Amino acid sequence: MEQQKRYGHFDDNNREYVITDPQTPWPWINYLGNEDFFSLISNTAGGYSFYKDAKFRRITRYRYNNVPMDNGGRYFYIKDGDTVWNPGWKPCKTPLDFYECRHGMSYTRVTGRKNGVEASVLFFVPLKKWAEVQKLTLKNESNEVKNLKLFSFEEWCLWNAATDMENFQRNFSTGEVEIEGSTIYHKTEYRERRNHYAFYHVNTEIQGFDTDRETFVGLYNEFADPQVVMEGRPRNSHAHGWSPIASHYIEVTLKPGESKDFVFLLGYIENEQDKKFSAPQVINKDKAHALIAELDTTAKVDKAFAELCEYWDALLNIYKVRTGNDKLDRMVNIWNQYQCMVTFNFSRSASFFESGVGRGMGFRDSNQDLVGFVHQIPPRARQRIIDIASTQFPDGGCYHQYQPLTKRGNNDIGGGFNDDPCWLIFGTVAYIKETGDFSILDEMVPFDNQPGSEVTLFEHLKISMDHVIKNLGPHMLPLIGRADWNDCLNLNCFSWDPNESFQTTENVSEGTKAESLMIAGLFVVTGKDYVALCNKIEELKNGKIENFNSSTLKSFNFSAEAERMQKAVDAMIEAVKKHGWDGEWYLRAYDFYGNKIGSNECEEAKIFIESQGWCTMAEIGAEDGMVAKSLDSCKKYLECEHGMVLNNPAFTKYIYEYGEISSYPEGYKENAGIFCHNNPWVIIGECIAGRGNDAWSHYAKILPSYVEEKYQTLHKVEPYVNCQMVAGKDAFKPGEGKNSWLTGTAAWMWYTVSEFILGIKPDYDGIRIDPCLPETAGDYTVNRKFRDAEYEITIHPNGQQKGVKSVTLDGQKIDGTVIPYSAGKHTVEVVM
Ligand code: BGC
Ligand code: NOJ
Repeated sequence: MEQQKRYGHFDDNNREYVITDPQTPWPWINYLGNEDFFSLISNTAGGYSFYKDAKFRRITRYRYNNVPMDNGGRYFYIKDGDTVWNPGWKPCKTPLDFYECRHGMSYTRVTGRKNGVEASVLFFVPLKKWAEVQKLTLKNESNEVKNLKLFSFEEWCLWNAATDMENFQRNFSTGEVEIEGSTIYHKTEYRERRNHYAFYHVNTEIQGFDTDRETFVGLYNEFADPQVVMEGRPRNSHAHGWSPIASHYIEVTLKPGESKDFVFLLGYIENEQDKKFSAPQVINKDKAHALIAELDTTAKVDKAFAELCEYWDALLNIYKVRTGNDKLDRMVNIWNQYQCMVTFNFSRSASFFESGVGRGMGFRDSNQDLVGFVHQIPPRARQRIIDIASTQFPDGGCYHQYQPLTKRGNNDIGGGFNDDPCWLIFGTVAYIKETGDFSILDEMVPFDNQPGSEVTLFEHLKISMDHVIKNLGPHMLPLIGRADWNDCLNLNCFSWDPNESFQTTENVSEGTKAESLMIAGLFVVTGKDYVALCNKIEELKNGKIENFNSSTLKSFNFSAEAERMQKAVDAMIEAVKKHGWDGEWYLRAYDFYGNKIGSNECEEAKIFIESQGWCTMAEIGAEDGMVAKSLDSCKKYLECEHGMVLNNPAFTKYIYEYGEISSYPEGYKENAGIFCHNNPWVIIGECIAGRGNDAWSHYAKILPSYVEEKYQTLHKVEPYVNCQMVAGKDAFKPGEGKNSWLTGTAAWMWYTVSEFILGIKPDYDGIRIDPCLPETAGDYTVNRKFRDAEYEITIHPNGQQKGVKSVTLDGQKIDGTVIPYSAGKHTVEVVM
């Protein structure tokens, strides 16, 4: 095989990915920030920042799909004699003597060297701070004195990222800044309804500045050769309208061997209504001064950075595996968990594929993401569940998305995705199993955020289940609505108008027979969980924990409810067996007219992955061999070199009755792409069936560290995280990755490996041990913090794929495979 070019490598000790060539096949990005203030940063320091919401509070401007790609960001220009260069190579692209970008856990360090000067910038957002720190260290490694001219650069966004890119007749007249010492303030629209402003500060005296973009760049110049920088002379421009920016100018003299730090701070401030101004037209800067004072020295910044590193140490110490296989360990211990945290924070809103203006938080997405981070930050998972449930409607349906800033459902997309309600069970059960906190069920949660409409969270779960039962079709299978998990299976859409959204259009839905086998499987899986939850509550009510506070739950008959739902689950299983089996695999759906989708009878797309995943996870018809046959069919028809495709064969033409799925060219996205998100469903199906070799081989195919070397060029996107889609076997270029970072794949890969492959499953009463491994697996150890306990669990697979023979807890053999929870440190030995 031809030697592939390499752009970087993992550094496991530092938990970093080290990029050694700035010209990666696509921008390889990282995320900064953990709570309110966030930034995206590429390996050449491109990207932008926002507060909470990438649409409504965009702090710096970014032009998506630009030419060249990824232009715009936080740039430092260093003028050394006639040479102008940037530490991250871009935008000047002056060849560097050395370049390195280290993406770490919520920080990025970019280092460049040129003509005896090293410039290294550490970017991070300190915990609990509304600011991005950029600590620049300049070092003279030459034998002569260096007189450098340093220019910083940020371009302000006029807050609303959508209108910022479209309403120029207004925008070019609204921009306003203030300059005070070494701080440039951005206060557009502050004079009217905004109570927030941003600033860009540096902790040293400056010798000049610029705040007007055209003055700084020059109308006929570019980021690569801004006229101010090229001439080495700031203009002290003051922006009025047009496009405000922030650039500091600093003259730096460095003796041989000398190094200097500069702390740049990009901050965001909100003021109370009556404290907005300190004088007419002058913004109140008290909070900005205070924030600057907290981060204005190298020592303070280093301390904040150490705190951030400790925060990540703690998060990544909760689940740690040692298998001796570096490729697996680094994904489990570092990158998969990191990606889960990023998806928790960003849902599907802002990446280099999601522009931040399109989508907020998804109802289904955020519930699924939860299994990826609930072990790390249970209180925030709890809040997330309440926020999500608050966007539900009284009939159990729900808004498909909500905005993080307002936490309100998005009206433009609305509801009608009939899988959505089930995911609330999925997320909530994961939370309770991890924490043992049943009290969340007792929380009062509104419908559609309407005060006065509150019922307990448990009742939200109940109506979620009922929503499925009340929306069954002619085969007693769930009606699909606008779509199920597959947003592109739009069976009531019937659109010939390219201006109609596939997602929100239901041109004909009256009398629909469109049913989903994916929802059927999902309903059985979450229904069983719901039944188990009800039974568990009943058990606890009878003694072990204090009863619920709310009167509805106090008097509620949970065992009758468990029985009721078990019947519905059994009925669904029967319906699938009767109407959902195609002979070799599960059908995917019935269309509007009641015709089969995903059947051998179909011309194209004879088999789909989603129903195989969910119905095998639900073990529907296992006793009749359906599960095994379905899993075999996935291998036979869906699997290819790069993973399993979503459907096979791909659609080759648009089908009016099916909607968006058939709109994509063959092999891409929902039309026979490898939608990484649902590969784990089949892998879990394999694990439940005990087929460890198969589970592992599917898993390794989409594990970033396994494809890292082979695909640095083919795969294109970041080798340290999963992407949503890899082009399938029918695509023009199979193996090409797209939509990196923000994908349910992260949480599902984590759930798969942590609970089903390595087999450490949180449960109500403790930790259930149930690994499913390839025969080649050796002994391994998992350190797992769980509530107030810490377990060191060593598994001896003995060549077995599945089946635990014995579990020894602190030297004592226990019955069964659940380690009963008790606080403190424990050692567990597991023999398979
Ligand atoms: C994409 C889906 C996505 C949907 C939601 C579609 O175009 O193919 O993956 O979930 O849009 O906006
Ligand atoms: C991406 C969406 O975020 C997710 O909700 C959906 O399930 C998949 N695409 C599949 O269409």
